[in-house]
Amino acid sequence: MKVLFLYSFPLVLLFTACSGTRSTTSLPVNPYEYTIQKKVTGTNGAVVSAHPLASEIGVAIMKQGGNAIDAAIATQLALAVVYPGAGNIGGGGFTVIRLANGSNITIDYREKAPATAHRDMYLDKSGNAQTELSQNGHLAAGVPGTIAGLFDCMKYARLPFKKLIQPAIDLAEKGFVLTASEAKNLNGNKDEFIKYNTVTPVFVKPGGWKAGDTLVQQDLANTLKRIRDNGAKGFYEGETARLIVEEMKRANGIISYDDLKNYEAKEREPVVFGYKTYKIITMPLPSSGGILLPQMMYMIEDQPVKQYGFQSAQAVQLMTEIERRAYADRAKYLGDADFYKVPVKKLTSKAYALERMKDYNAQTAGSSQTTQAGVITESEETTHFNVYDKNGNAVSVTTTLNGSYGSKTVVGGAGFLLNNEMDDFSIKPGVPNMYGAIGADANAIAPGKRMLSSMTPTIVLKDNKPFLIAGTPGGTTITTSVFQTLVNIMEFELSTEDAVNKPKFHHQWLPDEIFVEAEFPQAVRQQLKQMGYKVTQRSSIGRTEVIRINANGVIEAVADNRGDDAAASY
Ligand code: DON
Repeated sequence: MKVLFLYSFPLVLLFTACSGTRSTTSLPVNPYEYTIQKKVTGTNGAVVSAHPLASEIGVAIMKQGGNAIDAAIATQLALAVVYPGAGNIGGGGFTVIRLANGSNITIDYREKAPATAHRDMYLDKSGNAQTELSQNGHLAAGVPGTIAGLFDCMKYARLPFKKLIQPAIDLAEKGFVLTASEAKNLNGNKDEFIKYNTVTPVFVKPGGWKAGDTLVQQDLANTLKRIRDNGAKGFYEGETARLIVEEMKRANGIISYDDLKNYEAKEREPVVFGYKTYKIITMPLPSSGGILLPQMMYMIEDQPVKQYGFQSAQAVQLMTEIERRAYADRAKYLGDADFYKVPVKKLTSKAYALERMKDYNAQTAGSSQTTQAGVITESEETTHFNVYDKNGNAVSVTTTLNGSYGSKTVVGGAGFLLNNEMDDFSIKPGVPNMYGAIGADANAIAPGKRMLSSMTPTIVLKDNKPFLIAGTPGGTTITTSVFQTLVNIMEFELSTEDAVNKPKFHHQWLPDEIFVEAEFPQAVRQQLKQMGYKVTQRSSIGRTEVIRINANGVIEAVADNRGDDAAASY
């Protein structure tokens, strides 16, 4: 295997197959030899996603006459093959679209609780929460939404679906070479793939994977062909549905034929709010981002954060206190608004945001004991990608299996991983989920209900035209990362690369501590500690992708340095 590391700008890594040269199929990319580009520019279109092959496929679709929506569909399907840890057809997600004609669209294809799910399904006889069951294996899976969501997106596409899914089929059937990090992740999950499966999946390789090995997924290719030939029914009915239900029966799963047949994606009213001269479009509930992002942006809007300076202790302290207040409300009030009356209007009003900041004390650590949710009287795996096309269509997508490789359960004979999204419900009031988030009634389990999400795909308009397309994975850190990325660009005027790659921090009300990445400056940590904060170093926060459309028409796409993420343009 040749692996070439060029640490010059732009960062390029080249992955090639371990042995021999093979036919590269009809794919518009070479799956056996590809590079990772961290920053690209173009004037016709760009894609930035978690995998270079998926980004390149999106650009190829635009070159073939597709718009940004076509490219997003093809990219998402390609990610389901080349990025199995989070790219998926067995999970769900959110898509935010700004069409060149000025309309805003959001599509919700979040997983749903199966019909026989119930509030206490993860409690044992003594009432103790069994997170093992909500986080791993068959019972952790919600009814998948991704394929329904993609067919909903087709309304805005130009090319036939068959053309958009074919690259994913070819990648699954002919294989693609693994990057070092994918090989490591697959090896790291080997024991769980064995434990949580009734049929050993292709992800298990005796002796282990290494960079440059080729991963072929024939069962997945066959599933994708059924979707190509039969549309959404190729997933929710017929052979694929049979394979899912059979898989459920072989263990403790509860997803039924009816759950699959009845699943529907929903177009929802987008959240649109103003910030200074910008307009921000994001995803409504069941994304908590649609509540927390406007709250946090409103709380910071009138503060002199720019004057404090990027990553100054004052700026970090202010943003921490903002995050604390927003996340206190998340825990108490947020859940699927189709099932629970969430006081959305009040929670997203500027007046409420300002009221919440009245007890803000600069230079002093607040406390999550004294700062509770506001009083309302009114009745680690996900993936994000962005696409922009030459006509001005913008697409921002976050999609997930929840944890890395979801429930770790692959549907036998169908070759795709099922999500473990049920853990995003509050399985018992006050019991933290895998991201430490707690919840209450608003996010309790009920049949057909969607679990609360942090995914925050976002588009920012300047002069009413797309300026930024942004989003990230990262569980509960998603919304704070999007918040910080927007503030980094719109207030601190950081370059797109710095806005994406500079260390991030996170506060989510409980636990009452500021989490920082390893590169977060020591001096700022000390100052925060002196103010009374507990500061804890943690693993990396998110993998933020940004497309920035400059006034001169140059499209800049930046992929996060924290993973294999790659940008492509033309
Ligand atoms: O929807 C959510 O909020 C979570 N399921 C997202 C999980 C996630 O981002 C994991 N990635 N690192």
